[in-house]
Amino acid sequence: MKLIIINGPNLNLLGKREPEIYGSKTFEDFFKELQLKYKEIEISYFQSNIEGEIIDKLHEVGFDCDGIILNAAAYTHTSVGIGDAVKGITTPVVEVHISNIHAREEFRQHSYISPNASGVLFGFGLKGYDLAIQSFL
Ligand code: DQA
Repeated sequence: MKLIIINGPNLNLLGKREPEIYGSKTFEDFFKELQLKYKEIEISYFQSNIEGEIIDKLHEVGFDCDGIILNAAAYTHTSVGIGDAVKGITTPVVEVHISNIHAREEFRQHSYISPNASGVLFGFGLKGYDLAIQSFL
């Protein structure tokens, strides 16, 4: 099984960024733990702060890998382009958010990804990525 985790803007700062919301672990450390836990699956990781690069990555992987775990971060709430890309590909996408976006500001409560995602996980911290992997298994 081939899965990819795609993280959007500012998620490269995990560990340093608002640790009271996002925790104090870097994504790189967490990703190593996931790879050790799920040795039987090929999991790759891509992060970009640039909307078009996220769209390009979805096009690149979205017709042949088995699952995409997407945290589009702030673009979740603004990007028709990423929403359309998720709609246009054939690989199922699970949308993940570390925080409970529905318990935060109103602008975080709309997602352009959710209508086209096969599932959505939010509010479980980094564990949400693990749960998304389990949903594909
Ligand atoms: C986030 C929630 C978004 O609203 C925010 O812009 C992020 C991270 C999350 O994982 O909780 O950058 O996607």
